[in-house]
Amino acid sequence: MKLAVNIAGVELKNPVMTASGTFGSGRDFEPWIDLNRLGCVVVKGVAATPWEGNPPPRIVETWGGMINSVGLQNPGVEYFIAEDIPWLRQFDTRICVNIVGRTVSEYVAVAERLASEDVDLLELNISCPNIKEGGVAFGVQAEAAAAVTSAVKKVARQPLIVKLSPNVSDIAEIARAVEGAGADAISLINTLLGSRIDIRKRKFILSMKHGGLSGPAIKPVAVRMVWQVAQAVKLPVIGMGGIMTGEDAIEFILAGATAIAVGTASLLNPEATMQVLEGMERYMRETGVEDIAELVGSVK
Ligand code: SIN
Repeated sequence: MKLAVNIAGVELKNPVMTASGTFGSGRDFEPWIDLNRLGCVVVKGVAATPWEGNPPPRIVETWGGMINSVGLQNPGVEYFIAEDIPWLRQFDTRICVNIVGRTVSEYVAVAERLASEDVDLLELNISCPNIKEGGVAFGVQAEAAAAVTSAVKKVARQPLIVKLSPNVSDIAEIARAVEGAGADAISLINTLLGSRIDIRKRKFILSMKHGGLSGPAIKPVAVRMVWQVAQAVKLPVIGMGGIMTGEDAIEFILAGATAIAVGTASLLNPEATMQVLEGMERYMRETGVEDIAELVGSVK
């Protein structure tokens, strides 16, 4: 059975990736799973300098998922290079760095700094809804999305995945814009903007009032958008949004994803990535599929 897939020239041993922001750099998961079995670790967003993130409360549960307004807290690219790359390189898996910024030049600075480092892929985060400048501000408007993609592409030495926001009316337009600007692959979806209110206090629960909704509640939206983007562009697509099981992952592959990422499920169950992989293998065995590539985009 062949599970290996290719994302912009980088071979992943299987299509299971981690969704940025739900796996850190993998340290907390090592006691639970064999990181060597992952297709790729996508690390929490990395900025040019350390970011503190938003004040608490910044995570709240909801039916079928959770809402976060973390605000891309991270120790910065120098820490990532010194501590996380050597740690992750102990494992036989690919490394993808989610890069974040408030301005185009901040995104460019991270890609430039990583140019000579031993990482396999970059993921341009233009879809985080939790920061006042940057993030999703670049991802909801085609020209802005194209401008940051082409600026980062000029300095990047690793293939560039662009991570899209679902908080738009025409996802295909944004996907075509970043393809035209030089993206090598597209990942989607990031979180949907949502809120929860404490009715006793008559106050928003999150300090930022709103945050990003993730988990199984958003899966049907994600499957629809992955299919729309896969129809709109020629680039490989990485699908995510509420994947809890191998069957969920197969839905994304049938919709047109070459690889998938497991996110919120890992916060509930640290073995989720392995169980998704095993579920995909089981589906392939049961349905007589020799190569995962046979399934990509094969929905009728
Ligand atoms: C966050 O840190 O606010 C979430 C990450 C993201 O939405 O990209």
